[in-house]
Amino acid sequence: MHSVRSVSLDDEKYTLASGKIYKNKPTPVRILRIFILFTVMVLGVYCTVSLNTIHYLGIKNMAFPTRLVLQPCIQESRKSLQSWIKPPASVLHTMNDAELLWRAAFAPQIERYPYNRVPKVAFMFLTRGPLPLAPLWERFFAGNEGFYSIYVHTMPDYRANFSRSSVFFERQIPSQEVEWGEMNMCDAERRLLANAMLDFSNEWFILLSESCIPLHNFTTVYSYLEESDFSFMGSFDAPGADGRGRYNDGMAPEVTIEQWRKGSQWFEVNRELAVMIVADTIFYYKFKNFCKPDCYVDEHYFPTMLTIYAPELLANRSLTWTDWSRGGAHPATYGEGNTTYELIEEISESNLCTYNDEIVGLCYLFARKFAPSALESLLKLAPIAFGY
Ligand SMILES: *[C@@H]1O[C@H](CO)[C@@H](O)[C@H](O)[C@H]1NC(C)=O
Ligand SMILES: *[C@@H]1O[C@H](CO)[C@@H](O)[C@H](O)[C@H]1NC(C)=O
Ligand SMILES: *[C@@H]1O[C@H](CO)[C@@H](O)[C@H](O)[C@H]1NC(C)=O
Ligand SMILES: *[C@@H]1O[C@H](CO)[C@@H](O)[C@H](O)[C@H]1NC(C)=O
Repeated sequence: MHSVRSVSLDDEKYTLASGKIYKNKPTPVRILRIFILFTVMVLGVYCTVSLNTIHYLGIKNMAFPTRLVLQPCIQESRKSLQSWIKPPASVLHTMNDAELLWRAAFAPQIERYPYNRVPKVAFMFLTRGPLPLAPLWERFFAGNEGFYSIYVHTMPDYRANFSRSSVFFERQIPSQEVEWGEMNMCDAERRLLANAMLDFSNEWFILLSESCIPLHNFTTVYSYLEESDFSFMGSFDAPGADGRGRYNDGMAPEVTIEQWRKGSQWFEVNRELAVMIVADTIFYYKFKNFCKPDCYVDEHYFPTMLTIYAPELLANRSLTWTDWSRGGAHPATYGEGNTTYELIEEISESNLCTYNDEIVGLCYLFARKFAPSALESLLKLAPIAFGY
């Protein structure tokens, strides 16, 4: 190996891997051989350099036209299945929303996968920036590598600062401005979904905020999703000002008042429903134009659309517990003093619900809202109360 690499092209002699040394006059065949060797080496170096350039620039400069540089190498190789299903090396990319949604909506038309696909859960964090409860999540994820992926949407100018060993390291997707109750909130949720869908292994997609916590260990969460016949999108027909009262006649005929639904923003959908959400162009403009505050579009768009498209796939309830007992537009927040074992007991015992057409006691996998000051209490409670 070494001797071949160390050949100098204008040397009289060259050494083969076998160790034999040949003395040569420069015959046409020999010149041809040297020429071929030279060409292969130049191509090799060219490919390596351009791939490294792409890797480097892909991270440092997202606007670089990588396709132009990549072409010679791609044409060289014969595609394996692996090259289509391999997750992207980085969550960064140069696509705008239109390009991203279009790409993410690609879906196979054959139900069976021709390889051993291990389905993953995509945890999608919709945040302003920091993730103060990250240490709790780190503990939840530990030891479950290969069964989850993480995506974080922040305000566009926020730069996350996780260490290399963190599960959140370099999981921040290209993000844009989000305002509470506006359509750009749904845009961010679709952006999170679309980014997560670029990894073909992701099968279940969960939307979370920085104030959410997991109530059970990872294996419980995973099997709850895997064994469910339905996706956990909250969706109900609510009479009154906060429900049907937010319906606008401009939505007809695509959405009638009977089809109008409300549900929690914090959803879980499977890949089939995720494709419907990112591919939608019919309902999108109806909601963008006719559901503006006091119509909070993030509570209506996905529940209504999916109830029209695929009601038989919906559990119609959310997996995220929220304390609305105090009334008002915002739920209760728990902090240092009131994040207690009693609270966790209250959450897990408070309800019965339907799971695969049976009545069960395990209804919530996540809960909100928890303030940064709750972190210490949560870390102490986790081993007994949550099992991680
Ligand atoms: C990022 O984290 C490192 C160490 O974890 C710290 O030294 C640095 O100050 C942080 N930078 C910002 C902008 O928070
Ligand atoms: C997760 O929790 C369940 C239910 O509490 C328990 O049976 C299981 O052993 C736990 N799994 C791990 C890996 O801790
Ligand atoms: C959810 O609601 C839809 C109608 O809105 C219904 O068709 C579907 O059966 C419900 N799902 C479950 C699991 O009950
Ligand atoms: C919990 O305590 C915090 C202060 O740490 C307070 O702001 C909050 O309102 C309390 N929440 C509840 C539900 O009592």
